[in-house]
Amino acid sequence: MLASEKEDNVSDTEPQVEDVDRRDFLYVATGAAGAVVAGATIWPLVDQMNPSADVLALASIRLDISGVAEGTQIRELWQGKPVFIRHRTADEIEQARAVSLGDLKDPQSDEERSLDEAGKYLVMLGVCTHLGCVPLGDGAGDYNGWFCPCHGSHYDTSGRIRKGPAPYNLEIPPLQMVDDATIQIG
Ligand code: FES
Repeated sequence: MLASEKEDNVSDTEPQVEDVDRRDFLYVATGAAGAVVAGATIWPLVDQMNPSADVLALASIRLDISGVAEGTQIRELWQGKPVFIRHRTADEIEQARAVSLGDLKDPQSDEERSLDEAGKYLVMLGVCTHLGCVPLGDGAGDYNGWFCPCHGSHYDTSGRIRKGPAPYNLEIPPLQMVDDATIQIG
């Protein structure tokens, strides 16, 4: 076979470099288009799993507590749960701080639990840690704090469990003082 015939045969049956490059380009372009279409299809599904704006807005709330009179409490809602904000009397603070940690089922000092150093304000979830009822407040129960009538749990003036089936103290939510009158929960 002549050399020129051999060259002709090669050009007919084997892909040329140019053809291979073109094919690779088409594969890549098709793959990229597929990824874009898949991304566009999946994004609404992913996006709908993100919290909505109203849920995000309730993730934290700010409250002016300057109007809560001494010896009273207000109740607010945070993330669908009741929150008690109590302005305690000197007597309530004294009772809470006189308790020995050894006497507590869920040992926690009042200093750790109160909002401010002096212990004037106590902010906690109004959800009994037994089965989730809302305890009664304003000096209720055997320890002058809160009492859960569902199964008889008694909480002291710091919201700590003292008697009854509840295993834990009333929960303190994430809290911070924004200024002298405003707190942020969450
Ligand atoms: Fe409060 Fe059971 S739910 S004592």
